[in-house]
Amino acid sequence: MNKQKATISLGLLGLGTVGSGTLELIRRNGADITRKTGVKIHTTGALVRTLDKQRPISADNDLKLTTNADDILNDPNIDIIVELIGGINPAKEYITRALQNGKHVVTANKDLLAQHGYELFNIAKENNRSIYYEASVGGGIPLIRPLKNCLAANKIENLMGIINGTTNYILTQMTKYEKEFAVALKEAQEAGFAEADPSSDLEGRDAAYKLSILASLAFNSRVDINDVHTESIKGISVRDIMYAKQLNFVIKLLAIGEETENGLALRVHPTLVPNNHPLASVQNEFNALFLTGDAVGEVMFYGKGAGSFPTASAVVADIMEAVRKISGQVQNGNIETTFDTKPIISMEEQTSRFYLRLKANDQSGVFGRVATALGDENVSLDMILQNQRSDGRAEIVLITHDTKEENFYRALDKIKSLDSISTINNVIRVLERGN
Ligand SMILES: NC(=O)c1ccc[n+]([C@@H]2O[C@H](COP(=O)([O-])OP(=O)(O)OC[C@H]3O[C@@H](n4cnc5c(N)ncnc54)[C@H](OP(=O)(O)O)[C@@H]3O)[C@@H](O)[C@H]2O)c1
Repeated sequence: MNKQKATISLGLLGLGTVGSGTLELIRRNGADITRKTGVKIHTTGALVRTLDKQRPISADNDLKLTTNADDILNDPNIDIIVELIGGINPAKEYITRALQNGKHVVTANKDLLAQHGYELFNIAKENNRSIYYEASVGGGIPLIRPLKNCLAANKIENLMGIINGTTNYILTQMTKYEKEFAVALKEAQEAGFAEADPSSDLEGRDAAYKLSILASLAFNSRVDINDVHTESIKGISVRDIMYAKQLNFVIKLLAIGEETENGLALRVHPTLVPNNHPLASVQNEFNALFLTGDAVGEVMFYGKGAGSFPTASAVVADIMEAVRKISGQVQNGNIETTFDTKPIISMEEQTSRFYLRLKANDQSGVFGRVATALGDENVSLDMILQNQRSDGRAEIVLITHDTKEENFYRALDKIKSLDSISTINNVIRVLERGN
């Protein structure tokens, strides 16, 4: 066992939203943190880009700010590096150097872990150090440690989650107040729930990064970000949301991972979620993850997926875990480097229910021709709505039973080629309760 140190020193890389929250939380709850770990945590220095920026941190910190990463990475007194810069470069280089210099690393950086996690976990293993990354998915909601530890005895059959607060905020506003997408996005930006450049959130990339981190732990596999099929919420209109409401669904951006006997099915896309599913009631900036384990059954995690203090909650818990490791209280294995790569099931081979909204010329027999095109590909119908419009056309909304993607899209091609169909307005996947 290591000789217990009385004080363990931290170096922060980044002192923005999460960095400031981390510093403040350690200061605020420092006495309890010391009691729980048996060690005093001292933050020695923080790397920033600009020294003379106004920062929301208490004045009583004897913290040294620097713009030179060497001051933190090469300081032999620092035991734990907390990377809160974000992005790939220079965060990847700094984490690598920190591990090689014998320091444990805490990070909230999902982009980096999703793209280079395996390489970094190997560097950590080679140097007998650990990377802690609870804050990288779901902000303050405990997800990584439950998957690594508390649920480790289970075979995880599937997981699905709302793991991007920005898109959930926008979709909630569209649903509650019937606002169009562009209006809801602008208001989300003004309220601080969407960034000036929201493309990573809207296109589903942020959720895909997080899904690849969760799926690798849940399914014991190396998951590459390119294995995740990703779709945007930009095509969702209030009209779709209203039809979904009429049929007792709510539209959410879901991240879905399943392990089947043929491999892993991984996808992020807008989804009609039945009103009676626990994920349907997750609103605004809140996140949730719903999973099924073979022993535990269904479990759901819910809370704030971002923000200074919710994210700091996870970062500081990771720091405490690293402190316990340094002082020999826990031995946390580097399980991530033992994963093999499981096969990925292509989207065409995956199955889903589908919502289809289309406009048809008001001619007799139109609906029959649509139903025949679907039936020819073994796609059966569950629900149908038909709305007569003043321009003489009819809007038809269909929900199918579970079908293979390739069958559905073949049928859709046939429907598109029918003379009587004027527009295909939208196609959205539909979640089965207990899917
Ligand atoms: N914000 C959230 O709610 C949230 C939630 C979950 C995870 N995360 C993750 O947490 C990490 C940090 O996010 P954040 O929101 O705290 O970011 P942020 O507010 O933009 O802060 C970034 C900090 O890093 C510093 N920095 C950036 N690039 C640097 C460089 N090249 N050299 C030196 N310093 C640099 C900045 O310095 P200056 O202050 O001088 O500009 C700033 O202090 C990201 O990986 C993010 O994905 C954030």
